[in-house]
Amino acid sequence: PAAAAPKGSKLDFEAIAPVDYTQDSFVVPEGFSWHPVISWGAKLWSDAPDFDWNAQSGEAQARQFGYNNDYTEIQEIPNSSGKRALMFVNHEYTNENIMFPDSTDAKTLAEVTLAAHGLTVVELKRDSRTAPYAPVVDSEYNRRFLSDTEYDFTGPAVGSDLLKTSQFPKGRHTEGTFGNCSGGLTPWGTLLSGEENFNGYFRTAGTSAEDKRYGLGENDLARGWQEIDPRFDATTEGLENSVNHFGWIVEVDPWDPSSTPRKHTSLGRFKHEGANVIVAENGKVVAYSGDDERFDYLYKFVSEGYYEEGNKKHNMTLLESGDLYVAKFSGNSPASEIDGTGDLPSDGAFDGSGEWLPLVVAGESKVEGMSVEEVLVHTRLAADKVGPTKMDRCEDVEPSLSSRRVYVACTNNSNRGTDGKAGPDEANPRTENRDGHVVEIDEKGDQTSTTFAWNLLLVCGDPETDQGTYFGGYPAEKVSPISCPDNLAFDSVGNLWISTDGAPDGIGYNDGLFRVTLEGDERGRVEQFASMPAQAETCGPIVRDKDRTAFVSVQHPGEDGTFDEPTSMFPEYDGGTGPKPTVVQILPTTSTSPFTDVKPGQ
Ligand code: FEO
Ligand code: CA
Ligand code: CA
Ligand code: CA
Repeated sequence: PAAAAPKGSKLDFEAIAPVDYTQDSFVVPEGFSWHPVISWGAKLWSDAPDFDWNAQSGEAQARQFGYNNDYTEIQEIPNSSGKRALMFVNHEYTNENIMFPDSTDAKTLAEVTLAAHGLTVVELKRDSRTAPYAPVVDSEYNRRFLSDTEYDFTGPAVGSDLLKTSQFPKGRHTEGTFGNCSGGLTPWGTLLSGEENFNGYFRTAGTSAEDKRYGLGENDLARGWQEIDPRFDATTEGLENSVNHFGWIVEVDPWDPSSTPRKHTSLGRFKHEGANVIVAENGKVVAYSGDDERFDYLYKFVSEGYYEEGNKKHNMTLLESGDLYVAKFSGNSPASEIDGTGDLPSDGAFDGSGEWLPLVVAGESKVEGMSVEEVLVHTRLAADKVGPTKMDRCEDVEPSLSSRRVYVACTNNSNRGTDGKAGPDEANPRTENRDGHVVEIDEKGDQTSTTFAWNLLLVCGDPETDQGTYFGGYPAEKVSPISCPDNLAFDSVGNLWISTDGAPDGIGYNDGLFRVTLEGDERGRVEQFASMPAQAETCGPIVRDKDRTAFVSVQHPGEDGTFDEPTSMFPEYDGGTGPKPTVVQILPTTSTSPFTDVKPGQ
C-alpha cells in the first residue's frame, strides 16, 4: 500500500521508478491504469470522416481533434452529477515528419497542418465520478478554433497602427491563433491560452530590431501556409504587421460556442507560455505570465477593475485594462557564492527579494521613448530598457489558490554562463542549466504588491548523478529524479504537480508527471506519478485528487521517427498504426473501464 498522501489528499500512490528514454510505454503507479480520452483525428461531429492516415484532408481535420495537445482543462457541467464536462485543449504545433505518408502533396499538407493547429472545446461524458471520460460527438459545445476563426483585440493597442494590415485595416481584430502552449482557468470559468512560438509561422525581412528580438526572419515556411493565406509571408506589402497579431494571451469562453475569443493587449506581447489568474486581496485580478525564451522575463498584470463574484460579464472585462510589470530578482547571498554548480550559498538557500518593475501603470507608459501601444506590442523591447532579470526560460507560472504563493517553472537554459551570455545569478544559479528549477514567490499578503520575496523550491536533476540539485531541503536520495519542469497544477489540498518536457536529454529518463509536497517536514519531496511514451512531452496536467484521477496531454509522441519508421505506437500500441498526441486519464484500476485491456507498459 502507498504511504499516506501529503495534506490528506485522497490520491495516494507509490512513486513509480523513472523509465529509461529508450522505452515506449505509458507507465502509471501500481493500482492505476490509463485510458486515452481523445486522440488526434478523433471526430467531433458525426459528419466528419473517421481518421485515416492515408486520406487526410483539411476539411476532415477541421471537424476532428487537432494535433499536439498542450494546455488542457476540464470543467464539470453544473447539475450533471459529475457525469458531463467541458474540455478545452490547445494544439501547439504539428510534426509533419510523422503525420503524413511521403506521397502527400504540398496542398494537402498545408491544409491539414493549418487545421490541426488552434483550439478545441469538446464535451466529455462518463458514467460516474470513478469512470473514465469519453468525448461526446455532436455536442452543442463542441468547437474547433481554426485559422479563420475571428478574434477581437482588447485593450490599449486596439486600433493601433501597429495592428493594421491590408487584411485587417482597422487593427481591431484578426483571425486564428498559433503556437499555443500553456494556459489557465480564470475564476469566472473562461480559459486563457498563451501564443508562444508564433515567430516560426511567419516570414519577415528580419532586419528590424523588433523582428530580431522576436526571432522573426527569413523562415522557409515549411508548412506552405502562405499559399492558403498570404499573411504568413509578412514580407508582402501591407501584411508586415500580421506578425503583431500573435504573441498574445487569448481568452476563450467555452460555455458559449458562438462567442468571439479575444486577445488581450494589456498583458503584453511576447512568447507567452500561458497565464494564470488569482483574485488579489483587494479584489483586483492578477495574471502571471512567463516569456519562454532563454534569458527572457517574467511578467505580472494587475487589473484596473475589481472581481465581482458571480458577475461573469463584468469579470470578462478585467483583463482588458490594467498595469503591466516585469520581474527583477535580487539574491541575498554574495555573488561570489553563486558559483554556477548549483551548490547552495552559505546561508543555505537560493533566495532573496524582488521588484515588479512598471511598464504600463494607470494607462501611462513607464518606458522612456515608448508609447503604451509600443510597450504592449513590443513588450520585449520595452522590458529590455528597465533592467529585469534574465531567466532560464519561464514556462508555466501559477499561483497556489491555497497558499497564494506563486510558482515559476524555469525549464532549462543551456546557454547560461556560456560565451557572451549572462552568467549565473541567485535566481538562476547554474551555468549551462540543463535540468531547470522552480522559483517560489511570496507576495507577502498583497498580490498586487510591487515587491516580493522569493526562493528556489527545486533545483532539478537526478541527485544520483548530479550534486547540484536541491529539493526544498528534503533528502535528495529519497526523491524521484526530475528534469525540465514545464507545466504546473495544484491538487485540491495545495500540493504542486509538475509535468516535464525535455528530461530525456537531461537525465535520460522519459518525461513525466510528478507531485511535490510544499508544506511541512516533507517539503520538497518529489514523487513520480506517470511516465510518458517515447519522445513525448507531458502537458496538461489536471489533478482531481478527490476522484483519485488525473489527466495529462501527451504531446509529440514518437517525434524523432518517420511516417514509415515510427518510434512510438502510443496510444494504440498492439494493432496501432503510429503515434498520436492524446489526452490521457489516469485512474484507479478498480474503476469500471472498458479500456483496462489496453494497458501497455504495465
Ligand atoms: Fe511550448 Fe514553452 O513550451
Ligand atoms: Ca541566499
Ligand atoms: Ca510548455
Ligand atoms: Ca515545453
